[in-house]
Amino acid sequence: MAGVLLLAALGMVTVNLASLIGLRLYLTDVVDTNLTKARDTVQRYAESRSSPIPETTLNTLVPAGAYIALLDEHGRVVTETAAQGPDGQPTPCPDLPAPVLSGFSERPSTVSARGALIPRYRALGFPVGANTVVRPATGAAPKPVSTMVIASNLAPSDDVVYWLIGAEAVATLAALAGIAVLGRGVLRVGMRPLQDMATTATAIAAGDLHQRIEVGRPHSEIGEVGSALNHAFDARQRSEERLRQFVADVSHELRTPLTTIRGWAQLHLHGLAQEPELVERAMLRIEEEAARMHTTVEELLLLAQLDQGRPLADTPVDLGRLAADAAEDARALDPGRPIAVDVQDEVFASGDEDRLLQVLRNLLSNAQQHTPTGTPVAVAVRSLPDDQVELTVTDHGPGMDPETARRIFERFYRGDDSRSPSTGGTGLGLAIVKSITEAHGGTVTVTTAEGEGSTFTVTLPAAR
Ligand SMILES: Nc1ncnc2c1ncn2[C@@H]1O[C@H](COP(=O)(O)OP(=O)(O)OP(=O)(O)O)[C@@H](O)[C@H]1O
Ligand SMILES: [Mg+2]
Repeated sequence: MAGVLLLAALGMVTVNLASLIGLRLYLTDVVDTNLTKARDTVQRYAESRSSPIPETTLNTLVPAGAYIALLDEHGRVVTETAAQGPDGQPTPCPDLPAPVLSGFSERPSTVSARGALIPRYRALGFPVGANTVVRPATGAAPKPVSTMVIASNLAPSDDVVYWLIGAEAVATLAALAGIAVLGRGVLRVGMRPLQDMATTATAIAAGDLHQRIEVGRPHSEIGEVGSALNHAFDARQRSEERLRQFVADVSHELRTPLTTIRGWAQLHLHGLAQEPELVERAMLRIEEEAARMHTTVEELLLLAQLDQGRPLADTPVDLGRLAADAAEDARALDPGRPIAVDVQDEVFASGDEDRLLQVLRNLLSNAQQHTPTGTPVAVAVRSLPDDQVELTVTDHGPGMDPETARRIFERFYRGDDSRSPSTGGTGLGLAIVKSITEAHGGTVTVTTAEGEGSTFTVTLPAAR
């Protein structure tokens, strides 16, 4: 509001100043034109007269109320009329130099009054011919005159300017007051959507997550703010729901091993497992389930770290060597399975070696766990154009139906084959692969069909 008022005031003052300056120039120009006309008339008259010119006649040739000074050849004032204000009252005469030098005020110029700043005059000096003689109005003897100065009082045009200043000041103040009153109203109407937004945002912050801002005109600035906030609220709600789901999944995952551990412990405590073999079996199962929980918690921790977006190491990683190492480890765990490694020479990705090894291990362990024993697996590493490298893990196992393939990267998602406690995965393996790949600025995809095996493709930025 203050800004609008300031700008409006600046604009009005500029326009007012321009109009005042314009008016002043115009009024001065009118006075100057009259003075110039009077000069021409007087000069023509003086030329045509041979006998002395009565001063009174000269008075009739100049604009009403104009001041006249007649000067001899030395520039001394021979006679002058008393100056008059617009109301006919005598006023101080124009302040002429003594003696008045030839060429004084050849063009109309502004001259102040004798001993005062006001009134001001527009004065014009001009020669009146060599032989001109004037008979003064006082009745004194006729005197030779060579130059004449006429001056018009600027008070009438000043009065018009002052009047306009007053009128413009009143009009400006009235207009500013009007803008202030109407502007407040307009602003209040314009700001109402913002107030509604604040109310909605407060309600959402208080827990009513389903409230949304009503967006009237989506392409107005306020509409865009409303849409953006609605998107933000949607995103927040989605992430909160995801988090809730995640916590539910985690609790569910940890409940199963905990129940098992508790069951075996109670069996032992209540003295139901007395034979040494049963005690040993109880301890073994407890150890197994604790290890399973440990792995789950470790994996969750890793995912949480990746979610936080902490920067990873950024060193050149020899993907070929990494693939060979991972394949060797996998062969050691599952000697009956052929694992081929096909490496195009010198493929370096940029990233964190331990994490990328984990990606390979997870993919290879999936190929081992979710395909029948002996099914061949192939790992390939190659460079792509545009500074990308590609890593693929292909198996010729059972593959997946499209619905499963769509969901395998979700956290805790396991296919039917993996639900049995015997295979016992947590369903976090591929979620970790995806998080690590994305943290490296890469992507992971799967190409699969039922009965046709699966190919996991990881694309990563190449090391520079
Ligand atoms: N090579 C594959 N062939 C067939 N199905 C696969 C293959 N890899 C993954 N899957 C399916 O995707 C699911 C999710 O895999 P993911 O690695 O995330 O979990 P998991 O292997 O079951 O458990 P975890 O890896 O945490 O021990 C698996 O349960 C399985 O159904
Ligand atoms: Mg897995």
